[in-house]
Amino acid sequence: MSIEKYLGRNVHLLPQTNQLRALHTVIRDRDARREDFVFYSERIIRMLVEAGLDLLPFEERIVETPVGREYQGLRFAGKLCGVPIIRAGESMEGQLRAVCRGIRIGKILMQRDKVTKLPKLYYSNLPDDIAERHVLMLEPMLATGGTALAAIQLLLDHGVAEENIVFINFITVPEGIATVCERYPKVKIVTSAIEERLNENAYMMPGIGDFGDRFFGTD
Ligand code: URA
Repeated sequence: MSIEKYLGRNVHLLPQTNQLRALHTVIRDRDARREDFVFYSERIIRMLVEAGLDLLPFEERIVETPVGREYQGLRFAGKLCGVPIIRAGESMEGQLRAVCRGIRIGKILMQRDKVTKLPKLYYSNLPDDIAERHVLMLEPMLATGGTALAAIQLLLDHGVAEENIVFINFITVPEGIATVCERYPKVKIVTSAIEERLNENAYMMPGIGDFGDRFFGTD
């Protein structure tokens, strides 16, 4: 499956530097200790959050430096909100809060129904004025894309503009990218890795295993 047309436009892949690959190497190791998994994945999450913030609108701002010269700068123009998808998305909330002091947070709890295999909404709590905000949607895994589609639709139903959604994702596969980008072409996805494919159990290959279990120590 070719996803070339989405790269750089809809999908913003972190530069695949040696540094990033070294961090991925620690956490993809099946024998990684949990404290290492959390520490090194949080370093990557921090990079993803910073890259996501860079996709938001800015306006000019000029300040005077201590030596009396002007600095032609920028500042974020707009209101922001973070929306982790419970549970794995909450692994990203700490780094978002660390970078954006006092950020408003909404929550969405979606889970795949065991019978229908479709994502089911169990709970959501979103700021009343979310329609006026840019939303950083937090979900580390984009595999089949079912949960992401349902969560994006929920944000749209609450009045969020599609172009105001930045999906902060840790790891994905071409199938997931195509699913989200075809349905919601104005949503921007930031990710740190694009895997080869999904296996028959919808795990990414070579992948990282169950991110939520490894992060929260429930495996
Ligand atoms: N969810 C995970 O935690 N890992 C995968 O590989 C796919 C979905």
